[in-house]
Amino acid sequence: MHIDILTVLPELLESPLQHSIMKRAQEKGLLTVEVHPLRKWAVNEYGQVDDYQYGGGAGMVMMCEPLAKAIEELSKEKSYDEIIYLTPDGERLNQKTANALSLKENLLLICGHYKGIDERIRQHFITKEMSIGDYVLSGGELPAAILVDAIGRLLPGVLNDETSALTDSFQDNLLAPPVYTRPEDFRGWKVPEILLSGDHKKIEEWRQEQSLQRTKEKRPDILKGDE
Ligand code: ADE
Repeated sequence: MHIDILTVLPELLESPLQHSIMKRAQEKGLLTVEVHPLRKWAVNEYGQVDDYQYGGGAGMVMMCEPLAKAIEELSKEKSYDEIIYLTPDGERLNQKTANALSLKENLLLICGHYKGIDERIRQHFITKEMSIGDYVLSGGELPAAILVDAIGRLLPGVLNDETSALTDSFQDNLLAPPVYTRPEDFRGWKVPEILLSGDHKKIEEWRQEQSLQRTKEKRPDILKGDE
């Protein structure tokens, strides 16, 4: 899979994509991510990519021209399955959408800033608008990094133990069960007996039950399929 990211702050995306699982995905050649500085398509030599909004009001708006030119130039090299704008008023990201996006070949992510991007770009170029939650961040870079991580770890071969993505929380509308590691007894707090029993069938049943109980307690909304 290839992901292009268009941003005014490329530095913000460097570190999150260069460690751990995202690093491994790229080293294995399963995922390539390219970050493109939007100022390359600025309207003047000062690197301008934003301007005051029509009608007045505080906050700058990202201009049509740099975005349109960048999207058109990048689209000449790749045929994008989706051109995604990260915005708090987009569709809220969940595991189902991450699963669906992980099956695509080429994605272009657009990070907004200031008051957002000119509406005409949304109307004429953007194919999907995604939010990472009902709160407002300073820009779309961190949401873009989150989206890349959520998708990248699902690509076949990225995780060592392939089943581990399948047993993540949310994969079957259930939260993951509790997990424990050594020691068996920490300050008198004991690991549940069943996990030490070696009876895999019983352990699996216990995990199922714990998942269900945990979901009922913490996130009844996903059990009902609201999410
Ligand atoms: N840009 C600013 N806030 C955002 C959010 N919550 N989700 C996606 N993009 C954003």
